[in-house]
Amino acid sequence: MEVIRVEGGAPVEGAVTVEGAKNSALKLMAATLMAPGVNTLTNVPNIADVHVMGKVLKYLGAKIDVLGEHELRIDTTTIDKWEAPYHLVAQMRASTAVLGPLLARFGKAVVAMPGGCNIGARKIDMHILGLEALGVHFDIDHGDIHATTPGGMRGALVTLDFASVGATENLMMASVHAKGTTVIDNAAREPEIVDLANLLNEMGAKVRGAGSPVIEIEGVGELRPVTHRVVGDRIEAGTFVAMAGLCGRPVTVRGFEPVHLGLVLKKYELMGIRVERGQHQVTISRDAPLASVDIQTLPFPGFPTDMQAQTMCLLARASNSSVVTENVFENRFMFASELQRMGADIRIEGHHAIVHGVKAFSGAKVKSPDLRGGAALVMAGLVADGVTTVSDIHHIDRGYERFVEKLQALGAWVTREEVPDPETDDD
Ligand code: UD1
Repeated sequence: MEVIRVEGGAPVEGAVTVEGAKNSALKLMAATLMAPGVNTLTNVPNIADVHVMGKVLKYLGAKIDVLGEHELRIDTTTIDKWEAPYHLVAQMRASTAVLGPLLARFGKAVVAMPGGCNIGARKIDMHILGLEALGVHFDIDHGDIHATTPGGMRGALVTLDFASVGATENLMMASVHAKGTTVIDNAAREPEIVDLANLLNEMGAKVRGAGSPVIEIEGVGELRPVTHRVVGDRIEAGTFVAMAGLCGRPVTVRGFEPVHLGLVLKKYELMGIRVERGQHQVTISRDAPLASVDIQTLPFPGFPTDMQAQTMCLLARASNSSVVTENVFENRFMFASELQRMGADIRIEGHHAIVHGVKAFSGAKVKSPDLRGGAALVMAGLVADGVTTVSDIHHIDRGYERFVEKLQALGAWVTREEVPDPETDDD
């Protein structure tokens, strides 16, 4: 198996450029299904999740050319299926993002039910309830969701229980051709939602209000293919920001909008981290000890759940105690028990983690529990005594392009290594 080996104590400094946002690229790729013709997406990250979405689109009949490292030319003229099968949805839950586009294009879709995943139940009931309000009829059969639109789709008011990113996106896409106007109330406000709305408007859709809690979509006819640049990845950027804050020497993180990390940067400043904001970049450094602060995850513009593990890693080395409250996903504290193996002092109580700062981490063998938790463990290894070996790194590959190479360029002592599989117990 492949692991990431980190030797602590290297001087980490310099500059790093982030890729386009995973969570935007996946939805923009799905949205090309609605604009028959050749669509070009630039600044697409070369990561495992994008490859899975590519497989989904090809399964549906799209032709994809990869131009250079970060450009995809997606020809959706010949889409002739409307089904996202289980073997692909099981590889990546975000494959369900094709539901809205397929409904818009064909008025029908079959999408395998996503199973549970390791950061919580992640239901899609809000997607279903919202789409039903637009006139979509659902049957669940043998693990597949069959969606049909017997009377066509018509605009409606949909009030979401929670500002779900995935539900907002599926509703925005499905309603593009609906008759009349759809209003999504309590919509998610993430920058990736704005990126998707921009793409749809470039294609000829009429989406207003993205980035605010109320999004209006006025139904239009055919959409046309476009060329669009994916917004910079605020979470990849935030991961390098956290890493720089932990290690202390100056690191410039480029290729994203600092305003998309607003609350994260504010909390980090309260922790004693110096943040110099520039155009599409920040420079991070620290010379004081890390101070403890409390954080609670919330939908944007709240503190992102996707930055929770990286931030807990910083707090675990702070001078005092902090409370981390996870409000978005259940089971997102699995990272904490791995960090405890490295000497962190963390107590979990329901959806709160009480983090007492310790003076040092000690290198250990740890397992990447999920995408962000895996990156945070590598980050902890950078300041740990001795060697840390992070396994299950396929999670990290889902969302970070050339993670190890980028760290090496910053001076980190980190490598990918092939090691024998641990012996399994046959009992
Ligand atoms: C997206 C991001 C993920 C990020 C999350 C929250 C992608 C591919 N993933 O995930 O990285 O952590 O937003 O910012 O873009 N829920 C329901 N019913 C639903 C939908 C959601 O109960 O129908 C719950 C979920 O279980 C979760 C919460 O709502 O507890 C938030 O989920 P949501 O905002 O939909 O996240 P995703 O779109 O899955």
